[in-house]
Amino acid sequence: MSDTDTAAEWVRMPANAGQGTICTAAQYEEHYARSLSDPDGFWAEQAGRLDWVQAPTAIADWSFDPVAIKWFEDGVLNICHNAVDRHVDAGRGDTVALIFEPDDPAGEVRRITYGQLKAEVVRMANALKKLGVAKGDRVTIYMPMVPEGAFAMLACARIGAIHSVIFGGFSPEAIAGRVEDCRSDWIVTADEGLRGGKRIPLKANVDAALGKVPAKGVLVLKHTGGEVAMRDGRDHWYHEFSQDVSGDCPCEPMKAEDPLFILYTSGSTGKPKGVLHTTGGYAVWTETTFRYVFDYRPGEIYWCTADIGWVTGHSYIVYGPLLNGATALMFEGVPNHPDHDRFWAVCEKHKVNIFYTAPTAIRALMREGDGHVTKHDLSSLRLLGSVGEPINPEAWRWYSDTVGKGAVPVIDTWWQTETGGVMITTLPGAHDMKPGSAGKPFFGICPQLVDNEGGVLEGATSGNLCITRSWPGQARTVYGDHERFVQTYFSTYKGKYFTGDGCRRDADEYYWITGRVDDVINVSGHRMGTAEVESALVLHPKVSEAAVVGYPHDIKGQGIYCYVTLMEGEEPSDDLAAELRQWVRKEIGPIATPDHLHFTPALPKTRSGKIMRRILRKIAENDFGALGDTSTLADPSVVESLIEGRQNR
Ligand code: PRX
Repeated sequence: MSDTDTAAEWVRMPANAGQGTICTAAQYEEHYARSLSDPDGFWAEQAGRLDWVQAPTAIADWSFDPVAIKWFEDGVLNICHNAVDRHVDAGRGDTVALIFEPDDPAGEVRRITYGQLKAEVVRMANALKKLGVAKGDRVTIYMPMVPEGAFAMLACARIGAIHSVIFGGFSPEAIAGRVEDCRSDWIVTADEGLRGGKRIPLKANVDAALGKVPAKGVLVLKHTGGEVAMRDGRDHWYHEFSQDVSGDCPCEPMKAEDPLFILYTSGSTGKPKGVLHTTGGYAVWTETTFRYVFDYRPGEIYWCTADIGWVTGHSYIVYGPLLNGATALMFEGVPNHPDHDRFWAVCEKHKVNIFYTAPTAIRALMREGDGHVTKHDLSSLRLLGSVGEPINPEAWRWYSDTVGKGAVPVIDTWWQTETGGVMITTLPGAHDMKPGSAGKPFFGICPQLVDNEGGVLEGATSGNLCITRSWPGQARTVYGDHERFVQTYFSTYKGKYFTGDGCRRDADEYYWITGRVDDVINVSGHRMGTAEVESALVLHPKVSEAAVVGYPHDIKGQGIYCYVTLMEGEEPSDDLAAELRQWVRKEIGPIATPDHLHFTPALPKTRSGKIMRRILRKIAENDFGALGDTSTLADPSVVESLIEGRQNR
């Protein structure tokens, strides 16, 4: 601990956090230094914990200008073998791999051992093969949070198919766009999902999507038993279709740089990008980060509340935990069903040791009062984690004090879909904590803060967060559009990976992520491109123009604020506002539902026609005093009318 002016912010690592830990403060320094001075040696050693068909001799081979990223290039492995078979082969087949807690607390808990997991993954893999899926094919997975979602991902990895998981909250339009973009002929889904007692029409959404784009085959898991339409020759019930498949399916040997999965994520412009991760680097990165960040110890129960439709679910429900032979809990439901104590009830019921969730959930539960937490025995908890958006110190302290009883470390992990795994965090046992700060870079990570012109900023300062060296889990490209990958991440600051986040570094070299500096907003930890919501709005026949910005929201972190101008002759009304909200839900999905619709006769534009978003952000934030220079506006009076519109709401 230093005596800097930030000393008041420190929260000491609880004494018990160090017991049995795999990384002390001194070891962190040693590993971190070596990961930079001898990256090949360091990462070869980490990779050595995995089984390779052919061990890599080439380790790091990358350049950010021109952009070409390769890790472990001559290595051959299969990530499914490493996540599943390896543990069975080592005699750990009876260890529980996945615990399934259903939406309904009275429903059936499933405990799936590594042995059973292998059998299930083999069955799914052979079903996919029977359907016609071959190595390199893209398979869309649109599933509820049930173990079969994980089986499907692992089955793809086993046979060398590339999975593209789509979050169950996305609309048919969004599914169609993603299926089309990666030309995925195959879809794995379920009849319906279940969340908070509500049924989600997954198969019906797939059917609607396939009215727009073709697919050769759909495997359907019977989950709720709800009525669904099945198209002859295209749709197959999984339980029937997989009945006669072989109980044997070898793991396909994959080159380290063979694609593993595509995951669509929002950016500041255009349609969502299909971020591509490859096999070897991602395996090493998720195995190593899970091991050190969560300090997992055999026999512990680990629970990450994310959905497999997001990168957190990929890396820290499925791959990271399973590569480490851990026992991971999969929860189908939501934090407030049947009551606001559901998370804590599940922690008590399953004696959860490591709990990993998002600030939005913490804030929402905090608001409901401590009673929901204190009525449960949470003494099993040993580590608490946070991910997805900046955590405000108040929520951090409640998480630490009320949930963790002040006795367990809280780690705030900063990372992104594109980074594959955790990049900045404090390590339990190694680092004291500061509420609101993610902490220190993980092994091999070189953060750099730059000003808007790209000038490197040293010392305690704030700037735009870049990463100057490659790491094994880094995304390799945007599927089918490498130029977009280069433009999005490596052109703002040439030769550096630009994260899109703003960040402060304090005198103790702790990093504080301040949020996106581009046109991406973070709603309840979900990334949303403002351009996507704008495109959805202007598709409505009554909408002429739309500009969307984020604004502070107590629970969600950021809310979606939409400025809308209507076609000539159309009048604003509450009914139209409701209709537009519904419209966006249909076009993108419920997660994109506008929080605030602001009808305005005009948008603030420069004389060259560019919308001045800076002004729109300030007005949405109710910050009218700091609008800056408005003299370049074509019609400065627009601002007055916008402010008036904002104040009248
Ligand atoms: O703005 C940062 C925020 O989430 C963005 C990445 O979103 P996504 O790709 O959906 O991945 C989310 C889960 C890893 C980042 O650019 N973010 C993520 N974690 C944190 C965070 N912001 C602050 N603190 C975090 N711990």
